Amino acid sequence: MQSSQPSQACTDLISSLPSDKGWDNPSLIFPKSGTTWLKAILFALLNRAEYSNPNSERCHPLQTRNPHDLVPYLEFQLYLQQEDPDHATFASPRLLATHLPYSSLPQSVRDSKCKLVYLCRNPKDNFISLWHFTKKMMLKENGDQTPLPECLDKFCQGLSMYGPYWDHVLGYHKMSSEMPEKVLFMKFEEMKEDPCVHVRRLADFVGCPFSEEELRGGTVEGILRMCSFDNLSTLEVNKSGSLWTRVENKSFFRRGEVGDWVNYMSAEMGERIDSVMEEKLHGSELKF
Ligand code: A3P
Repeated sequence: MQSSQPSQACTDLISSLPSDKGWDNPSLIFPKSGTTWLKAILFALLNRAEYSNPNSERCHPLQTRNPHDLVPYLEFQLYLQQEDPDHATFASPRLLATHLPYSSLPQSVRDSKCKLVYLCRNPKDNFISLWHFTKKMMLKENGDQTPLPECLDKFCQGLSMYGPYWDHVLGYHKMSSEMPEKVLFMKFEEMKEDPCVHVRRLADFVGCPFSEEELRGGTVEGILRMCSFDNLSTLEVNKSGSLWTRVENKSFFRRGEVGDWVNYMSAEMGERIDSVMEEKLHGSELKF
């Protein structure tokens, strides 16, 4: 394993940047838009030929491993472990994840033929999902969680780990309009509403469309069943296992519903997020 210590210049640059206390300290926080679900679906889609034989005794990896274990993060998994991982040694099809904003992606990613799938979520549900997640992290670390109104202030000021939420979604949304063959922009709410349509769209985009036979045989429905909240959240690995970061797998499964924010925020708090988003998304085609 190579050293992943930052250089002095990098350390100096980081300490010169403006900083503020996050929602929690010291855990990492990031958008909670259904990444776990998307990772599971993409893994199942791309590897379906290998696990489709009903006579095979091989158990599907999603039955025994958490989706984050199967689809690693570039920034806080691969590049934390190695300074320069050799992607050529990874098994094909190469499926990797990142929470980085589009503008922070290395030029090589933008120039390469790799395809990007972005899943965004209504900012109010995203905010509440993240708030619950950090609460669990803080409980585990015996820390105090920042109260919800304070987190809301930070969210509305754009103080989130990967930058303001609106910049994050707008970056990928713009690129998907400019380069639809490179970036697919999806919404959690649309996936929930009509998952079959969106999984087919996803399969077409990544270049492995469903055949007529698969469509007739219920492959789409099978993938969705396997990747459903009810199935994944009740698997032993996701009830009791943990990730390499020691984050418990169960913390990635809470309710998986649309509109749960109303159970935790007042209408006024919701309107605050709406009005910031409206202002920031003004002029774009993107609406929540
Ligand atoms: P809630 O906290 O609203 O329940 P991420 O995967 O990006 O960390 O996002 C986590 C959110 O996705 C959580 O939302 C979680 O419950 C939901 N989620 C996880 N797996 C899901 C699945 N298979 N289907 C739908 N939602 C899922």
